Amino acid sequence: MTTGLVTRTGRWTVVSWYRNAVVYSLDVRTFQDSNGDGIGDLAGLRSRLDYLSRLGVTVLWLSPIHPSPYRDGGYDVTNYYDVDPSLGNLGDFTLLMNECDERGLRVMLDLVVNHTSDEHPWFTSARSDPRSPYRDWYVWSTEEPADSAEGMVFPGVQERTWTYDDAAGAWYHHRFYAFQPDLNTENPEVRAEILKVLAFWERLGVSGFRIDAAPFLVERTRPGGAQGRDYSFLVEIREQMSWLRGDAVLLAEANVPDEELYEFLGHADGAANRLQMLFAFRLNEALMLALAREDGSPVRDALEALPPLPRGGAWATFLRNHDEVDLSQLAEDERAEVMAAFGPDRRHQVYGRGIRRRLASMLGNDEARLRMAYSLQLTMPGTPVIRYGDEIGMGENLDLPEREAIRTPMQWSRRANGGFSTAAPDRLLRPVVDDATYGYTHVNVTDQRLEPDSTLSWFERSLHTLRECPEVGSGTTTVLTTDAGPAVLAHRTEATTGSMLFLHNLGEEDLVVRVEEMQSEEPVEVFADRTYGRELDLTALALAPRGFRWIRLRRGPADPLPGPEEVRDEETGPPAWTSA
Ligand code: GLC
Ligand code: CA
Repeated sequence: MTTGLVTRTGRWTVVSWYRNAVVYSLDVRTFQDSNGDGIGDLAGLRSRLDYLSRLGVTVLWLSPIHPSPYRDGGYDVTNYYDVDPSLGNLGDFTLLMNECDERGLRVMLDLVVNHTSDEHPWFTSARSDPRSPYRDWYVWSTEEPADSAEGMVFPGVQERTWTYDDAAGAWYHHRFYAFQPDLNTENPEVRAEILKVLAFWERLGVSGFRIDAAPFLVERTRPGGAQGRDYSFLVEIREQMSWLRGDAVLLAEANVPDEELYEFLGHADGAANRLQMLFAFRLNEALMLALAREDGSPVRDALEALPPLPRGGAWATFLRNHDEVDLSQLAEDERAEVMAAFGPDRRHQVYGRGIRRRLASMLGNDEARLRMAYSLQLTMPGTPVIRYGDEIGMGENLDLPEREAIRTPMQWSRRANGGFSTAAPDRLLRPVVDDATYGYTHVNVTDQRLEPDSTLSWFERSLHTLRECPEVGSGTTTVLTTDAGPAVLAHRTEATTGSMLFLHNLGEEDLVVRVEEMQSEEPVEVFADRTYGRELDLTALALAPRGFRWIRLRRGPADPLPGPEEVRDEETGPPAWTSA
């Protein structure tokens, strides 16, 4: 259930597995096709597990694998108890689980239960008959609601949030696209069904779920406007999940204001009693702004503003995910700055708030900058989530609509279709990127494996090193003062396992950094963008343009040794919760 770490003194400290994990996010359909039909599948993924375990990731987060018309990347489900036939069947899923177990890889699934596909039999029944047992599983209005064209998640593409359905003779609510009717999660039958879905996949061995659209899932939707949120369902989900499997984890997608984060995590003065993990959206925007400005201050401010977590709580950090870079919570001028730097062309932009590009192309394919950016992410407090293809620096295809631009097939080799599939190119689910810079003949796994200085080799080294530094996931992070100007971010992370110092130079100048009040008897450099020499003088640390250094200051607990009470303080302990 947890990873035990023996410290220098032989004392035990316990770190929950998810605070020391590296999550790899992938869509089975675009990863590896095994049977030449142009669609990635479970057998294909199985054949790539060796690659993933060598890379150093520990958790696979699969985007929805259920039967789906796939009009929104699978986030439009027609049956929660199965896998889409194009991916294989449940037998293939259990084979995948077996092989992941053998390699110590965990699997997390997307739980997409804010809405179903409009082709789900529940909705088909609900819309066709007012007396259907499923009618009240969705959210209806007999009149057109006053807010029927408000609150769209995909503005510019999605026109409404309430749509009239002829068969039903009523308007139904959909926070997302019109083909994704919202489930009525205030209905106890719907809640019971969702809990059953969780139980089903937990029984098949998954280690947890990413909860899609968590704030909307608990919204009390009413015609005319939502009446707040009822978070009690999150407690129900957490309780049942933890009873079935004590170490299972819930990771919420909740891009909400800081004051509301506790509603998802539970309160800082208690153990994490709702969802253990949250994506660090605010930190993501700060990272984007900092990279755009070549200035560490936005990250410093964001770290200082991170709300304290309940015991056992963890941030999931990310630079890019399967959606657009969402800049909606930045101030308008800040958003404009990031857009100007990373998404200047209208075609780069989407939904009036975001950028539909991969990080490599946002950073102009600048290798040094890309590594520094990922080093920053990896050293932020929390559990890093990495998007497939970013480990080789893949680009996007702006000819594809909306977020599909960044969902192209994985580029394995120079072979046809980048080794993704043996199908004819026009039969692929999506075309493989084939341009002069990011095309599969230039950017692929096979070439990069042979090259010790490739992006892929860099990722392997950085992830393996990160896993030797459990402080990052479970410790306390402090931003340090230096004399080197705003381009440098210096931060330290402390835990009973040890202490690490991290330096990042976001700018283009060579620098020498003096970190104030930094002491260490035997500092050791464990990772850096280059060899800075054997002598480590903490009062004068050279830092190349876009350079980074990871320096271990201490192994084991600080002196004086903490008492057992303090050691225990850092543990998660058995799952504990309170009812709302
Ligand atoms: C989440 C997903 C996104 C999807 C949406 C609707 O925001 O990340 O990809 O389109 O939910 O399910
Ligand atoms: Ca296939």
